[in-house]
Amino acid sequence: MRNVIQSAVLLLAAALVSKTGAVEVIYAQVGETATLKAPGDINIQKEYVYWHFEKEDGLQLAWRNNMGGSLTTSDEAWKGRLSLSGASLVIKDVQQNDFGTFLLKRTGDSRLTTYKLLKLTVSAKPPSPLLPGDSLSLACDAQTLPGHKGPEIQWLNPLGGKEKKSRGPLTVRATSQANGQWTCVVTYDKKENKAIVSVTVLDLSPAPLHPQYTSKSWPLTIPCSLPAHISWEQLKAKEIQDVRWDFVPESGLIPQSLYSLSLEDPLTWKADQNRGLRPVPDPKKKNLSLTRNRGTEEDEGDYVCALEFKNGVTLNRTVHVKVLQIISSPGTEFISGQQLNLTCSLGHPLPSDLQLKWFPPEQSSLPSLTSDLHLAHLTIPEVATGHGGKWRCELWQSNTRLTSAEITLKIEPKMSSWMLVVICSVTVIVILLLILAFILYRRRQQKMTHLRRRLCKCKTPKPKGFYRT
Ligand SMILES: *[C@@H]1O[C@H](CO)[C@@H](O)[C@H](O)[C@H]1NC(C)=O
Ligand SMILES: *[C@@H]1O[C@H](CO)[C@@H](O)[C@H](O)[C@H]1NC(C)=O
Ligand SMILES: *[C@@H]1O[C@H](CO)[C@@H](O)[C@H](O)[C@H]1NC(C)=O
Repeated sequence: MRNVIQSAVLLLAAALVSKTGAVEVIYAQVGETATLKAPGDINIQKEYVYWHFEKEDGLQLAWRNNMGGSLTTSDEAWKGRLSLSGASLVIKDVQQNDFGTFLLKRTGDSRLTTYKLLKLTVSAKPPSPLLPGDSLSLACDAQTLPGHKGPEIQWLNPLGGKEKKSRGPLTVRATSQANGQWTCVVTYDKKENKAIVSVTVLDLSPAPLHPQYTSKSWPLTIPCSLPAHISWEQLKAKEIQDVRWDFVPESGLIPQSLYSLSLEDPLTWKADQNRGLRPVPDPKKKNLSLTRNRGTEEDEGDYVCALEFKNGVTLNRTVHVKVLQIISSPGTEFISGQQLNLTCSLGHPLPSDLQLKWFPPEQSSLPSLTSDLHLAHLTIPEVATGHGGKWRCELWQSNTRLTSAEITLKIEPKMSSWMLVVICSVTVIVILLLILAFILYRRRQQKMTHLRRRLCKCKTPKPKGFYRT
C-alpha cells in the first residue's frame, strides 16, 4: 500500500515536471518587444500553428496555416502589436496586461507549448542627472514563477564591467564612469535577458590627453566644453553657482582668475584678467573654450575650467599649455662668418613621442645641416648671407603637426681684405685728387694777382721821376 502511494506520488511528480519543464520563460520590460520563439521542430510547411492567451481555449491571438497564410487578433488590447515571424509570436510595445501565459498549439501533434511572459523592471534612484559623489541605487526586479526560484541577476556598468552581485538594489557612488547605460542581465534556464537603464552624471568633457602647444606664430585654443548629453537646464536644476577659468602660470603658483560666467540669461562671460584670451562666443552652445590668434611666451601654464555647485561639489578640467620657441645666440643680426646657434625648445626636454623639424630659409642650401634637422640645437660655425631670412621649427607627433615657431635672421656680408684695399686705394686717390685740385687752384690765383698788378701799372701812369729804381 505504502509502495503504491509512493509510486503514485512519484508518477504525479514526474507528470508535473514534464508539464512545468515545457514552460518557456521570457522576460520583458514594459514598452519593449518580446519574441516567443516557436519550438525548433515545427515544420511550418506541414503544420498549422495557433497562439492562445492564458488558456488552451482562451483568446486566440494568432494563427498560421501551412501555406503561409496568417491572421492576428483584432482584439482592442492587442491590435497592431502582434505579428508572426515564421511560427514565433512577436509582441511589440509590451503592456502591463500582457504578462501572463501564452500557449502554442500545433496540428502536427497535439502537444502544447507553454510560455510565461514575465515582467522585468529596472530603475535608477535618484532620477538623473546626478552630481559626482551622489549615491546611485540601481534596482533590477524580475518577476518569478510561483514555486520556482528566481533568476540570476548581474549588473554591467556602462563600460561593460561586471558589478559585484548583491541581494536587492545595487548601490554605487556616482562618478563620470557611472555615466551611461547600465545593463541588468537576467539569466533563467540558461537564457539571458537584458534590461537597460540610462544614468546621467553631470561633468565636463574630458580634458585633452596632451598639452596644447602654441608659439608666437601659432594660434592657441584652450578647450573646455559640456558634453552633448548635458544641458544648461540640468546644471541650473542642480543649483550651479559658478563657471570660471583660472590660470596657474608656469612660473609662480598663484592662480589668476581669467573669466567667470554670468549665469543670468543670456549667459555672458565677465573678464577678470583676460590676458588677451577670448572665450568662444555663445556659451549657450556649451563650448567654454578660450582662444587667441597667436600665442605668447607668457601663455605657458595650466588653465583650469571649473563648475561649482551650491552643495560644494566642483567639477574641473585642467589644460596644460606649452610654448615652442626658437632662441638664436648671440642675437638675430649677424655678420657673415660669425658662429650661429639656434635652439628650438619647449623649455624642457622633449617627450620621446614628439619630434622637431627645422626648415631653413628657402634660398639657403644647407647640405651640412640635413643630418641634424631633427635636433633641438643647430650650430652653424660660420654663417653666410644665404642663412638670412625666416627659419622655422615644427613640432610633430607622428603624423600631426602640433605647432611651429619662426625666427628671422639678418646677416650682413663681412668686408674682406681685398675690399679694404679697394676702399683704401679709392680714398687715397680721392685725397690725392683733392690735393692736386687745391694746388692747381692756388696756382691760378697767384697768376691772376700777378696779372692784375701788371695791368695796374699801365692804367695809372706814375709821375716820372718818383719811381726811378
Ligand atoms: C569650441 O570652439 C573651439 C574654437 O572655435 C573649437 O576649436 C572647438 O572644436 C569647439 N569645441 C566643441 C566641443 O565644439
Ligand atoms: C578640481 O576638482 C578637484 C576634485 O575633483 C578638487 O580637489 C580641486 O581642488 C579642484 N581644483 C580647482 C582649481 O578648483
Ligand atoms: C654655441 O654652442 C656651442 C656648443 O653648444 C658653444 O660652445 C658656443 O659657445 C655657442 N656659441 C654662441 C655664440 O652662443
